[in-house]
Amino acid sequence: MSQSQHLTIALSKGRILDDTLPLLKEAGIEPLEDLNRSRKLIFDTTREDVKLVIIRATDVPTYVQHGAADLGVAGKDVLMEHGGKGLYEPLDLNIARCKLMTAGPVSGEPVNGRLRVATKFVNVARRYYAEQGQQVDIIKLYGSMELAPLVGLADRIIDVVDTGNTLRANGLEPQELIAMISSRLVVNKASMKLKHAKVQALIERLGEAVSRAR
Ligand code: ADP
Ligand code: PRP
Ligand code: MG
Repeated sequence: MSQSQHLTIALSKGRILDDTLPLLKEAGIEPLEDLNRSRKLIFDTTREDVKLVIIRATDVPTYVQHGAADLGVAGKDVLMEHGGKGLYEPLDLNIARCKLMTAGPVSGEPVNGRLRVATKFVNVARRYYAEQGQQVDIIKLYGSMELAPLVGLADRIIDVVDTGNTLRANGLEPQELIAMISSRLVVNKASMKLKHAKVQALIERLGEAVSRAR
């Protein structure tokens, strides 16, 4: 089988992997070894023509955009931040559901001057506050955003919220909803054309698995 007939799917460890593997299994694709116990980054599957690569969640759109993976699974938050260039987003997998929100201290005092907003979603933040007509200073962080208001680094954060436990545990409360989030199947635009039959068949089987899971 020629290389061009292979499909590479990019996934990230953690909740996306845990929730995507059952859907892939229903679509007839199972890794040949335990992904969580291996240090390998590329895995064969029960389908000779399908490989899985395991990367950081925020890197999934980049791999798929450049065709290093034909398909991938990424949170809508990550896709909004990436911008979606070079990608189709044919399927909502309805997994890893959460909300992208602004948050700040409970009973916080009004902020004097420009709002300082800490987030890893700097593009989303810039767009959101521009639409609100509000001038803000955006502070790029890579994680644990909830700490920023506690130590005076920022007045607000933008992060994903599920149960709200992390906010509550840090004396913060959710404020404005920016977007409802779930993970999406993304496809490289060239792969969609050049490997159309295979990609389309996989989208359909995954779509059926998602419907059954609802
Ligand atoms: P990361 O290492 O980038 O934080 P995660 O596995 O935590 O990766 O998150 C992957 C995706 O899952 C996020 O892009 C988001 O869409 C979603 N997500 C993140 N945190 C939660 C959560 N607490 N509950 C549900 N979904 C979440
Ligand atoms: C995510 C997110 C929040 C938390 C929200 O962190 O960045 O901190 O979940 O969920 P909650 O509303 O249910 O508390 P995650 O667990 O992914 O940790 P990490 O990204 O910092 O590893
Ligand atoms: Mg996380």
